[in-house]
Amino acid sequence: MRRLRSLIVAGLLGLAGTNGALAAESVVPPHQEWAHGGVNSFLSMFKTFDYAAAQRGFQVYKEVCSACHSMDLVAYRNLTGIGFTEEQVKAIAAQYEIQDGPNDQGEMFTRPGLPADHFKKPFPNKQAAAAANGGKAPPDLSLMVKAREHFEDYVYAILTGYEEAPADHPIPDGTHYNKYFPGHAIAMPAPLFEDGVTYADGTKATIAQQAHDVVTFLAWAAEPHLVDRRSTGVKVILFLVVFAGIMYAAKRRVWADVH
Ligand code: HEC
Repeated sequence: MRRLRSLIVAGLLGLAGTNGALAAESVVPPHQEWAHGGVNSFLSMFKTFDYAAAQRGFQVYKEVCSACHSMDLVAYRNLTGIGFTEEQVKAIAAQYEIQDGPNDQGEMFTRPGLPADHFKKPFPNKQAAAAANGGKAPPDLSLMVKAREHFEDYVYAILTGYEEAPADHPIPDGTHYNKYFPGHAIAMPAPLFEDGVTYADGTKATIAQQAHDVVTFLAWAAEPHLVDRRSTGVKVILFLVVFAGIMYAAKRRVWADVH
């Protein structure tokens, strides 16, 4: 037993050793409250998205993040999932010029966006995206919240984690010091500013508020069926519990006289 335990400890230390360089450089993001519980949380089964926050978050994505980040997996019509009406979705899509074609002459043309179009990308390809951003292409945000350890909390921490680089931690030119980015030198300049957007519902657009809203939107984009799916799970489990009870009662009745 002792030996087994020391073997396990040695194994864990070995693992920690290989990651040591990175681990020393990354800071655990503080936990934030999410109305939906979090994409990776069991609790989300009892909760629902804050749709007003997700709509504000879409505004932040649209006015700020979409200058650099694509969200290839999301179509405008999906936005009805956070409470936009079909009319609103049509109007949102129509604000974009989408390339289509070829037409009968074999030429590409542009037309106003339609609900079925996927979110327009800011750059035609990865190379162009990297060239415009100091060599680092901004990653697609469709699944970002699920793609990083600590999920929503990490993305929120990145958006709010910009600081002056400490004197003992110089960072390369063209990068920015971020407390929560592994290695701290991130190619993304701080994207959010106080009152950088104007919310229609009168919510004050602090940096923290915009970060919380856009992360709620990104969580919905990464797991649009989180709420439905988990609540179906709960219903199935409740059904099975009740059904087991009925079967047990039936079995007792059927076998009651056999003794
Ligand atoms: C001026 C362009 C620009 C804007 C605007 C911008 N980003 Fe970025 N973003 C980048 C670049 C470039 C990277 C890659 C950074 C790197 O790998 O060093 C990045 C990386 C990220 C990452 C990944 C960090 C990681 O762990 O790899 C997230 C999350 C992110 N951005 C979210 C956002 C959100 C949300 C917004 C809007 C509020 C936003 N970004 C606005 C350029 C931008």
